[in-house]
Amino acid sequence: MKRFLKVLLILVVMEEVVSQNKRANKVNLRIPTRNRKPQQTNIEEGPTGVKEEPYATYPSIVNPLVQTRIPTSEPQPNQKYSEDMKLYFLKNTMAACNDGTTAGYYLREAKGNKRWIIFLEGGWCCYSKETCDVRYKSAKRLMSSSEWPPTRKGTGILSAKHSENPHWWNLNAVFVPYCSSDIWSGNVSKSQSDYAFMGSMIIQEVIRDLVPRGIKQAKVIILAGSSAGGAGVLMNIDRVTAMVEELTGDNGQVRGLIDSGWFIDPKNAKQSDCADATMCAVTDAIKKGLTLWNGVLPEKCKEQFNRGDEWQCFYGPKLYKSMKSPIFLVQWLYDEEQLRMENIQPEFRSMTANQWNNIQNIGRELKKSLREVPAVFAPACFSHTLITKSNWMEVQVKSVSLPRALHCWEKSLQDNRSSRTGMRGCPFHLIDNCQWPHCNPTCPALHDHVSGQAMNILQLVLQMGMENQRKGLESKGDLSQLIAMLRNAG
Ligand SMILES: *[C@@H]1O[C@H](CO)[C@@H](O)[C@H](O)[C@H]1NC(C)=O
Ligand SMILES: *[C@@H]1O[C@H](CO)[C@@H](O)[C@H](O)[C@H]1NC(C)=O
Repeated sequence: MKRFLKVLLILVVMEEVVSQNKRANKVNLRIPTRNRKPQQTNIEEGPTGVKEEPYATYPSIVNPLVQTRIPTSEPQPNQKYSEDMKLYFLKNTMAACNDGTTAGYYLREAKGNKRWIIFLEGGWCCYSKETCDVRYKSAKRLMSSSEWPPTRKGTGILSAKHSENPHWWNLNAVFVPYCSSDIWSGNVSKSQSDYAFMGSMIIQEVIRDLVPRGIKQAKVIILAGSSAGGAGVLMNIDRVTAMVEELTGDNGQVRGLIDSGWFIDPKNAKQSDCADATMCAVTDAIKKGLTLWNGVLPEKCKEQFNRGDEWQCFYGPKLYKSMKSPIFLVQWLYDEEQLRMENIQPEFRSMTANQWNNIQNIGRELKKSLREVPAVFAPACFSHTLITKSNWMEVQVKSVSLPRALHCWEKSLQDNRSSRTGMRGCPFHLIDNCQWPHCNPTCPALHDHVSGQAMNILQLVLQMGMENQRKGLESKGDLSQLIAMLRNAG
């Protein structure tokens, strides 16, 4: 009987999916529709089933797909305004990559525009001679400028295409490659150590070198970064703010945009004595690293901790309380790097019920940590980084896309009338309410880490259910909860 019920439930679930797909197919979208609900419907009821205000004044922003259908609104790049970003090396050769080669930045100028975005690249770190040697062999461009190409394309939030970047396509855009492996915090020159770690100095020198290009006239400077770059923004922004205030005579405002760089102190990190330096757990790695890099942490944060405990300033929620500059957080609730820190490798094919529970707990903790931050975009997805992906506009939280939330945030910073979390119809404190990883139908497709094939949450849970069945585990009504989830999602 029980078995029969389970089969029945699976059938019901399948039917849900089929009808979901049918609904999705009705709308003729130009982009792939997998894992996506039709965006033209349901303005009233968002993906989470929460009632939303219709956004009458910004139709093209609510629905990024409409944007692509109005080619006339796309500004044509001309000679003065090329899409490519060009490489410049820093004038101060002390601002070096790990191997001593001079660091640099890619720039696309928008002459006359007083708004800038400076983006810090990510790529974790190395924290010992051994881990840095390995990194140098496997990812040299993250430690050396010797093989950087002379130009690169801006993507996502750095794109010069109006269709890919509706609000910020015409900003002065700067991409700073990550070549210091120190979470942008270091202050050690090559003469003092096997490798240089000059991350904090590289940021300052980039800004100094942008002075002849007009950054002194800037009204807004967005310091952005993904992953380790996002953590780098958190650790450097107040110092950058002080520097810019001095440069611009208080006219320029620095704002932080942190993508996937808000980590919480892992509760389930594996125990490591760090005897084998390549096997350190994250907190040990950070502790070791800060010593090796001579890491420069924000003074205000350091003051909160005893000597030796300053490493806690690496974790966003601990650093945030002492920060001055306005920031916007883009954070997946089930960030894959956070899961990795908690010793969970989401190999979806063989996920256990225990892992599934841990993952949900991490999502809840992360959500809690975001409560106090006014400007947040936090979709309930497994993923890592978003803002420089070309499809960054497709993800929505409560029917609001990220470019629109950023627009609302910027508006609130200019406008006194706005509330802390958003004006009527223009919200920017957006955290998914639904309870499951990937319960938001606009989440990016999951990839099976073993086969590399895309899979959806349903396949994942069905497989998990079968796996548990095989092992004789009773998974507390997983399937009925799943059905509830699909109802919410649909
Ligand atoms: C970096 O170290 C030098 C000394 O080596 C020091 O003068 C400087 O103030 C440090 N920079 C920061 C930002 O702490
Ligand atoms: C915002 O409010 C402050 C004082 O409360 C005022 O000085 C300022 O002019 C206002 N700005 C705008 C744009 O209204």
